[in-house]
Amino acid sequence: MTPPKFESIAPSAARLTESLRDIGYDFPAAVADLVDNSVSAGAEHVDILIEFSGPESYVLIADDGVGMSESLLTEALRYGTRRDYEQGELGRYGLGLKTASLSQCRAVTVATRTSIKVPRLYVRTLDLDVISESDQWVVSKPGREGLPQRALAYLTEGTGTVIVWEKLDRVLPERRPEGGWARRRLEAMAKRTTEHLGMVFHRFLEGTGGGRRLVITVNGEKVESWNPFAPGEPARTELPSQRFEVTIGGLSGTVRLNRYVLPAKEHFSAPEQFEYMSGPLKWNRQQGLYIYRADRLVQWGGWSGIRAIDEHTKLARASLDFDTDLDGAFNINVAKVRVTVPVQLRQMLERPINELCSRADEAYRKTARSTDKGTSGPSLPRQTAWRGPESPEAAAMKDAALALRAAAMQAGEYAAFLRIVEVLEKEAPAVAQDLGLGT
Ligand SMILES: Nc1ncnc2c1ncn2[C@@H]1O[C@H](COP(=O)(O)OP(=O)(O)OP(=O)(O)O)[C@@H](O)[C@H]1O
Ligand SMILES: [Mg+2]
Repeated sequence: MTPPKFESIAPSAARLTESLRDIGYDFPAAVADLVDNSVSAGAEHVDILIEFSGPESYVLIADDGVGMSESLLTEALRYGTRRDYEQGELGRYGLGLKTASLSQCRAVTVATRTSIKVPRLYVRTLDLDVISESDQWVVSKPGREGLPQRALAYLTEGTGTVIVWEKLDRVLPERRPEGGWARRRLEAMAKRTTEHLGMVFHRFLEGTGGGRRLVITVNGEKVESWNPFAPGEPARTELPSQRFEVTIGGLSGTVRLNRYVLPAKEHFSAPEQFEYMSGPLKWNRQQGLYIYRADRLVQWGGWSGIRAIDEHTKLARASLDFDTDLDGAFNINVAKVRVTVPVQLRQMLERPINELCSRADEAYRKTARSTDKGTSGPSLPRQTAWRGPESPEAAAMKDAALALRAAAMQAGEYAAFLRIVEVLEKEAPAVAQDLGLGT
């Protein structure tokens, strides 16, 4: 008899489930990954409860999506769910439900209902302590008794899914999980989660993503969308949008770029609005590319290696959209919070981004200058709107000037560049004008 050619090396459930807890989620990102699932399941409402109750505290994420059959539910709890995806679906790895949940807690229970008519629930629990003890990939079937009362309330009317996180070891402090500090910690997480969801799902909340409007609540409060491009601000400038056809490693698709210069503080409709639009990371670090995958924001702030963050360009923000057919090219990570802009695309983006930054810098400087001169009251925003088609020669001159400006910034010699422009404006105003450098 010939000896068998293969030996089974099934992973150790106990070891692997523990190590997969640390693949890059924080609390808000973990909740967002579950909201992705709700969106894919066609949900219109997602309610999140972060309930403080000492060591029994729990987090609940309930949606009114299509729910899962019993076999789908079991499959859903497998690391590496076996299934196919349609284009534009937010899921990709078959991992999120497990890895996101267990990055924050030791036990996740899923209750689901697929039929509007029949109030039948399927419930399964994935518990790290059970897996650890048995070293087996198993789920338990607790029945509805295993669920907090509030979870059941969500599934009395129609279809949907409720996820419950218990044994919140990564959320509650080890010492005194019943104390005031633990409570405040949970409250702070609820706040951060609200901000995070308002940003990453803003298109869904506004009804411009995914083909329907989504309503999310956190502890009963509606999550408001936070649109990084301040669409309601009249003094905002929008540059022409661009499309790039890219083919990278056998994958082809379209990437869209939309560019905006946000108004400087005195041109915002209200100072509070300016504060609000500064965003979670504040103006400087919120400048840059906002990368959307199938309408869901997956990366924000900074220029993805195209240029550095700079105080002068803090009013520049741009959206970059790709669809799931380019996932491989963008290297989306499991936690869906990081992508890599492919080198080929980065090169294509350089010019339009530098143009945007140059305009943002202009807007910033104008304000700084008028403030320096002590102008009383807000001056009118200088119209920086796109001026329409130019002759190729004029466009080439402006491009050259733009490249010079960008190079000066990159070389850290921007102040010197501005002094040169000032002299040029005095000595040869027509040339400065032709180069688009005049004020
Ligand atoms: N709220 C939900 N409603 C209906 N089905 C769900 C829900 N959550 C998960 N599922 C099912 O469980 C499967 C596994 O979910 P999981 O988040 O682990 O992986 P995924 O979404 O397929 O991929 P990714 O790892 O990128 O998130 C999903 O593909 C979906 O079929
Ligand atoms: Mg998922």
